[in-house]
Amino acid sequence: MADVPTRFRAFRIHDDSAGYRAGIEDLGLDDLAPGNVTIRVAWSGLNYKDALAATGKGRILRRAPLVGGIDVAGTVVESDSDDFLPGERVLANGSGLAETRDGGFTEYLRLPADIAVPLPTGLTMRQAMGLGTAGFTAALSLYRMEANGQRPDMGPIVVTGASGGLGSIAVDLLTAAGYEVHAITGKVEQFDWLAHLGARQCISRNDLHWGQKPLERAAWAGCIDTVGGDMLAGLTRAIDLWGNIACCGMAGGSGLRTTVFPLILRGVSLLGISSTNCPIDTRRKLWDRLGNEWKPPHLDEIIRNEVDLEDMPAVFGKMLAGESLGRTVVRVAEAD
Ligand SMILES: NC(=O)c1ccc[n+]([C@@H]2O[C@H](COP(=O)([O-])OP(=O)(O)OC[C@H]3O[C@@H](n4cnc5c(N)ncnc54)[C@H](OP(=O)(O)O)[C@@H]3O)[C@@H](O)[C@H]2O)c1
Repeated sequence: MADVPTRFRAFRIHDDSAGYRAGIEDLGLDDLAPGNVTIRVAWSGLNYKDALAATGKGRILRRAPLVGGIDVAGTVVESDSDDFLPGERVLANGSGLAETRDGGFTEYLRLPADIAVPLPTGLTMRQAMGLGTAGFTAALSLYRMEANGQRPDMGPIVVTGASGGLGSIAVDLLTAAGYEVHAITGKVEQFDWLAHLGARQCISRNDLHWGQKPLERAAWAGCIDTVGGDMLAGLTRAIDLWGNIACCGMAGGSGLRTTVFPLILRGVSLLGISSTNCPIDTRRKLWDRLGNEWKPPHLDEIIRNEVDLEDMPAVFGKMLAGESLGRTVVRVAEAD
């Protein structure tokens, strides 16, 4: 394979008798999971799940060792698939990357054609990774909410973990789609930034006092929740008739203590959002929208941070401490 060097750099995670550890290694293509499309990786991006996987704080890997990185964008250098030709730009997110097969923190990667997505018109590879799984999940949330009847005239949508990657893109995306957005954040110093992205109200996480009745005053028509735990439980009691809660994350906890009353008395729907397992047809459709009518207007500003493979570990600790602000992209080889 003329275009692929025999050795290249990758950030690989091990979990064996020597312990849980991760770092940069020299690998060859045959060290990687198989796939009929080989790409030269240009950009990746950092997600909360990448931080859990790289540090071992969450059991993400289902086999080891694996190259980390649930998001990847690059250029095809070799393909046995009629669907992708050398020179074409592609991306992949979730779909088992860094879970059951090697992920995007590598200079070269093999992908099965049936998880690859053509780079949408309207996005550079850097922008695609600025969206990454976070942006894709915001889009999947809105898609599922609207499929279940959510409309802007029903009232405001609240976004939790609003300053993080998924949260900030959700604020921007929902606002552009015509919704009034309220943002819940732990960072009062970012109220102005969230308002700039479109949030009409910003609420400090520390000022929330959920009542404990099964149904409290209905404050919002729907929700994109990245926090889980007590936050999600409180939200179930405060969403209005027929509203949708897109349940995405667990940055604040994985438990859920609530009652059936919001569901059976207000018709509230709790929608499970699984970006990893999204079917490929829906995945390609949503990526196409993200490059076009759903492209977040402030995407280039939401990309707050750019790092090399070597710099990633310093970011992981901040993510797990709740310090993320917007998105961090990983520059593997500049090729946009
Ligand atoms: N279901 C899916 O398919 C899917 C896809 C992508 C992400 N997720 C999940 O969504 C969540 C956010 O992901 P992300 O990549 O956007 O992460 P991120 O960029 O690191 O943002 C996380 C944000 O969560 C907020 N947060 C609230 N309580 C927290 C706590 N106790 N610890 C840490 N953060 C806390 C913080 O924002 P504020 O300070 O503004 O509150 C933080 O900036 C994660 O749980 C992730 O696993 C799920």
